[in-house]
Amino acid sequence: MQLETQRLILRPWQKSDAQALYKYASHPDIGPIAGFPVHTSVDHSKEIIDRVLSAPNTYAVVLKETNEPIGSVGLMIGKASHQSNSDTEGEIGYWIGVPYWGQGLIPEAVREMIRHGFEDQHLEKIWCGYFDGNEKSKRVQEKCGFTYHHTTENVPCVIPGLLRTEHVSCLTKEEWENE
Ligand SMILES: CC(C)(COP(=O)(O)OP(=O)(O)OC[C@H]1O[C@@H](n2cnc3c(N)ncnc32)[C@H](O)[C@@H]1OP(=O)(O)O)[C@@H](O)C(=O)NCCC(=O)NCCS
Repeated sequence: MQLETQRLILRPWQKSDAQALYKYASHPDIGPIAGFPVHTSVDHSKEIIDRVLSAPNTYAVVLKETNEPIGSVGLMIGKASHQSNSDTEGEIGYWIGVPYWGQGLIPEAVREMIRHGFEDQHLEKIWCGYFDGNEKSKRVQEKCGFTYHHTTENVPCVIPGLLRTEHVSCLTKEEWENE
């Protein structure tokens, strides 16, 4: 399945995206704050495409202007979500390459994922979380209509032994329809 916004195509990751994925996901400011390790080689990125990014509802964020994948957005439904096991609830995760920060591209992608979740996947509630201190991600969630729900302490992350604080926000279908 492919989704589209004004500036973006959201489409499944392909093996041939490994080079572009490595270019952006090898930056230390991307993975760890989002919950995944820094990519260490193009082969590593290839493996991640095979093993992780091939999950259902996981999309490469492709800039229409260049046709290059520059980030990722995913909707994890039911058991795939960290926040709820319910099949009518999902969780959105996202990142975008550093050169593209600050252009509102992820909010644009997230708004489309929200629409897809509520209209096409018939979800009732969508969750979204960020680790304490990630103000950029907090802003994305605020701008997309999510409101603060709860905080979870001692969440394991990619750095072995390090526990972090996660703030979780949520958006219901009803809130989204009435926005
Ligand atoms: C969080 C992230 C996805 C935001 O995507 P984006 O497309 O840049 O989103 P926006 O353009 O709406 O910017 C969001 C906020 O980031 C901040 N910001 C933008 N560009 C920035 C930059 N170059 N440096 C520092 N902060 C910046 C601003 O506060 C902005 O909020 P504002 O619109 O109220 O000014 C992106 O920064 C990212 O991938 N970060 C690393 C991975 C990550 O944190 N993923 C989310 C895990 S929960």
